[in-house]
Formats: sequence, structure tokens, C-alpha cells
Amino acid sequence: MAARRVARDWRHGRLAWGFEIAMPDEPARPAAPELLPPNRMPKRGKAGSERGRVALWHAVAHIEFVAIDLALDMAGRFGAQMGPEFVSDFLDIAAEEAMHFALIDRHLRKMGSFYGALPAHSGLWDAAHETRHDVAARLAVVPMVLEARGLDVTPAMLDRVKAGGDQIGARLLSRILDDEIRHVRTGVKHFVACAQNADQPADSLWKSLVQLHFRGQIKKPFNDSARRSAGLPLDWYSGLVPLRTSVITHPREAAGGIRPSQT
Ligand SMILES: [Fe+2]
Ligand SMILES: [Fe+2]
Repeated sequence: MAARRVARDWRHGRLAWGFEIAMPDEPARPAAPELLPPNRMPKRGKAGSERGRVALWHAVAHIEFVAIDLALDMAGRFGAQMGPEFVSDFLDIAAEEAMHFALIDRHLRKMGSFYGALPAHSGLWDAAHETRHDVAARLAVVPMVLEARGLDVTPAMLDRVKAGGDQIGARLLSRILDDEIRHVRTGVKHFVACAQNADQPADSLWKSLVQLHFRGQIKKPFNDSARRSAGLPLDWYSGLVPLRTSVITHPREAAGGIRPSQT
């Protein structure tokens, strides 16, 4: 896959340090899946039904697909100002997202489906577009809110997948969770560096950027141990929880919650 080749070429010194070509506002998309706004997305089918399972994995495949573009856009858009370590980190992430996508697409195919067979959520690029002019804002929102949200919703999804007897799916999700912890950690590392360069306290800068650029809510329940492993301090995000919090208790809702626009 192209993302993995780019990461390999970069690691082997086969790519020049050049950022003259502007990144597109929207990445190219394949003809399928059809992208629909959240309120036009078809119902996923009953939890535990074959249709529900395929819809769930299709939604996850779409998140991973967009995650490839998010990581490449991060490297291409902000690499010149942030330097070689930043580029290396986000090209490695792009390669991992491509691996996640390939594994999930293979899983879908074993279920008789494939990525593109169903419509997908059109809003996953919104946060990238919103933060296209500011690397600190992009880091604050994409890895540190949206990918961190993925850490929160994965345990409930994992329970649901295990309960359905899908051992391969459960192994896939566990592996992805480990990788995503690293992705969030990478985001935190570069965000803290941005804050230091701007001579601002990282926690208050993060909060103000999230409040400015993220339209959703930072919702409980949090996967505090995964967030801690990723280097996200509890007192940063707990301070952003509105007084009236909604607690996700139903696994179906949790799985839906992985969609960044709902976070
Ligand atoms: Fe991923
Ligand atoms: Fe990721």
C-alpha cells in the first residue's frame, strides 16, 4: 500500500526534504464507499446480528482509512516547520494505520463484505479541515481528542466482539489499541514541544485549542489507564468534562462513539 511505501522510502533516505507542493484541502477518495452525513447513515442492524457486525467493522475500516490520510496530512502539511523527527513519527503512524486498515478489510472480506460495500460517515475530515492552519490545534484535536476517544470506546467494543465469539476480531482490536496508545503519545510529545516553543503551559494551551476547534464533547467514560500510558494527564481532560456528563453504558452506543464526529 502506498502509505507503507512512503514510510519505507523515507526511512531509507529515498525521499527529498521538500514541501513546496501544498497539501490538498480534501484528500482523494475512492469511488466507494459513498460518504453520507451522520443523520443519513443507515441503521447498523441489531447488535450481534451478521448485518450489525459487518456494519461495525465497516465503520472501523473507514476510521482507519481516514486515519491514514490524517497522518500523511500531518507530515506533509506541518513537516517543514516541525522537522524530521515529526515527519518520521507521522509517516510511521500512516504506515500503521494502513496496516490496521488492511487487517480490518481482510476481516470484512472473511465475513463476505469489503470496505466500500456500505456507506460511510462523511464527517471524519472535519477536524482536519478546521485545524489546517495550526499544527498545535491539529495535534490538540486529532491525536489528543479523537484518537484518545478511540482508546475510550475500544474496551466496550472488545467486550462486544468477544461476546459474539469473534476471536480474530478481538485480537485485531487489542493490537490496534496498543498501536493507538502510541499514536496518542506521539501527538502529546509534539504538542508539548509546540507549547514549549510558544512559551505557554501545555495544559492551558491544549484546553483553549480544544475549546476553540473541537465542536463535540469530551465524554466519559474514559479509559484512564490507556490515556495514562499515552501520556495524557487526567487533570487535562477531566477539566473539560461538562458538569452534566453522559455515561456510555450500552456497547452499541460505545461502538458508535468511536466515530470522531460523535466524540
Ligand atoms: Fe489505527
Ligand atoms: Fe491512530
